[in-house]
Amino acid sequence: MVNRSLISITDYSKEEYLRILDLAAEFEKNPNQNLLTNKLIATLFFEPSTRTRLSFETAVQRLGGRIIGFADASSSSVTKGETLKDTIKMVSNYVDMIIMRHPMEGAARYASEITNIPVVNAGDGANQHPSQTLLDLYSIRKTQGRLDGLNILMIGDLKYGRTVHSLLMAMSDFNPTFYFISPSELQMPSGYKMLLDRQGIRYVEDRDFLPFLPKADIIYMTRVQKERFSDPFEYEKVKNVYVLKNALLDSCKDTVKILHPLPRVNEIDPDVDENPKAYYFTQALNGVYVRQAIIASILGLK
Ligand code: CP
Repeated sequence: MVNRSLISITDYSKEEYLRILDLAAEFEKNPNQNLLTNKLIATLFFEPSTRTRLSFETAVQRLGGRIIGFADASSSSVTKGETLKDTIKMVSNYVDMIIMRHPMEGAARYASEITNIPVVNAGDGANQHPSQTLLDLYSIRKTQGRLDGLNILMIGDLKYGRTVHSLLMAMSDFNPTFYFISPSELQMPSGYKMLLDRQGIRYVEDRDFLPFLPKADIIYMTRVQKERFSDPFEYEKVKNVYVLKNALLDSCKDTVKILHPLPRVNEIDPDVDENPKAYYFTQALNGVYVRQAIIASILGLK
């Protein structure tokens, strides 16, 4: 994977991304290592972010590298009309790697095709978020002791939630059973379900998550992605459709873990936070180690 971009989780083989998880476990034990001396990495965020940008930047700094970039495209020359192509070509002359978030699906792939330095997709519209998937896999393996044969309950916005799309593709390597819980307007897109059909992977679709809580090994909650709705009225109809509360978790397995890519809005009540089944804040911390592993692997430093 040296010098290779990470745009979709399928860009890497199962063996390659499992190696990243193993490396992340090493970084968890020893996060401060001077591997990136003289390396400069750009974080170009054309869309808001807290965790992804800051955990990538933490990862770089803990590895002794340096960062340039922007957290808000309005502070860049995009506002003067500069194209994405010109922006990428320019930044490529300055740095060793680009980490990029963009609202347009396919923008990261396009960027990777016009530069010779590796590009990591930090989220492209409703499409993919592969570094999130790797930290999700890391969190699932760490809490369940395995990735194979798990019951994964995905709840919320399965249409626009890019993290569930990437996670579905990766978990498909591990014989899961998926339970897709969403309002009809926000169902898992048919392309992803066709992918599962082709691989013979079981999935159930429903509107109500309560009957499936006792089966779940992982409950993956998602936020309704307000920014992807063209009609605010449609968002209002579905915004609070699912709220996970502590009192609902008694029927779950003791070993279940609740994941959420965050940010949350209302879909997990704060009364869940102290329950040992809640794992979302540790999941976000795992993102630092996994992103250290991604960067070190791509730059050939481990
Ligand atoms: N999980 C995630 O992508 O969070 P941010 O939008 O805060 O980066």
